[in-house]
Amino acid sequence: MKILSVVGARPQFVKAAAVLRSFEQLNKECGEKIMESLLVHTGQHYDFQMSGLFFEELVLPDPDYNLGVGSGLHGEQTGKMLEALEKVYLDEQPDVVVVYGDTNSTIAGALAASKLHIPVTHVEAGLRSYNRHMPEETNRVLTDHLSTILFCPCQAACRNLACEGFNNIVNNGALLSEKDIKHITFSQEKPAVVNVGDVMVDALQMVENDLEVPVELKDKLRDERYIVLTLHRAENVDNKERLTSLLKAMADSPYPIVFPIHPRTKARISTFGLSSQANKFPFRIIEPLGYKEMLGIVRSASLVVTDSGGLQKEAFMLGVPCNTLRTETEWVETVEAGWNMLLTYPEKGFVQNSLSWAQKVCSMKQPQLYGDGLAGKRIASLLGMMTT
Ligand code: UD1
Repeated sequence: MKILSVVGARPQFVKAAAVLRSFEQLNKECGEKIMESLLVHTGQHYDFQMSGLFFEELVLPDPDYNLGVGSGLHGEQTGKMLEALEKVYLDEQPDVVVVYGDTNSTIAGALAASKLHIPVTHVEAGLRSYNRHMPEETNRVLTDHLSTILFCPCQAACRNLACEGFNNIVNNGALLSEKDIKHITFSQEKPAVVNVGDVMVDALQMVENDLEVPVELKDKLRDERYIVLTLHRAENVDNKERLTSLLKAMADSPYPIVFPIHPRTKARISTFGLSSQANKFPFRIIEPLGYKEMLGIVRSASLVVTDSGGLQKEAFMLGVPCNTLRTETEWVETVEAGWNMLLTYPEKGFVQNSLSWAQKVCSMKQPQLYGDGLAGKRIASLLGMMTT
């Protein structure tokens, strides 16, 4: 069976690493190569720090194709991907295409496949912010409605899909068990919605014994309390007033704020003339980090402040309270469990309050919200069924 995975942006490399590893394991268990895996990189992220480093750390195979699409306006970037992916699909004739998450690479991968009647499966299906201003929300909704198997990371995602008319929700959205697998039926007309657990749990388990702290921070952060900040969403960084007020609100933090900077945010800080504000205490701007270093600094942080989807959950998985700088989150369970607090308009003094809040949160017991680290295995088993 020929399975073609499409990736392009940083969080997708992490998710794909967990899934591709499970294909290899299944091949080993079967003693033959039943899963022939092809990897296509759209080139959406192209800097070494945003792409190559993740391939190295997660021991991902070199992509079979790199489409080199690069940056651009949404339509332009997605359009270039569509055109290039169609050619690859026609040449390779995959049995199934696997797409991950919610980026422009996700929707391009799904749409190109669907037009050629190649079944699409979506890893991290069913997440919703219910905010159509986010390009990621459009990508998710459309991708889900093009998919034949929707691999959800949690029960809430299955519920979201039920509300959109999907009526083949396996086991009512509870985590898939071995015995359920045999009874699943699906077709392009009747897609299956399955809670396989979150592949990000699998990915974390792959690296948790060798998390690192970046060399440049090792001495500076020894025994020191600190906060980790990331910002990259258009609604936070593309508007000068918004970005200025976010930086201002954090400027009175008593602890250093480690700020691995996304290229988009770096460019905006410079264009908006905010460099002097962002380059002095408490901010410690550093280059984007790889996966192990990012998780390494989060693990020992007192608080995470972010607008990233993935990082909210990684903070939760590592037992670190998180403030999310958005009006809504897809990961509602982290908020319900009390570990994540949405802060839409943070004001001066919020860091101090959040640190006191975080101290209390840390003593709470954590529920297991995102499965057991076997999401990749379930995905591999279900894909294996697509030919049977
Ligand atoms: C994308 C995804 C987002 C994901 C994020 C992870 C979409 C719509 N958004 O956002 O869901 O959470 O990736 O990081 O697909 N750039 C570089 N070097 C790179 C990559 C990007 O300099 O290697 C700069 C370019 O100036 C580019 C900007 O970053 O214009 C934005 O990149 P883009 O891929 O459009 O979206 P992200 O903001 O990274």
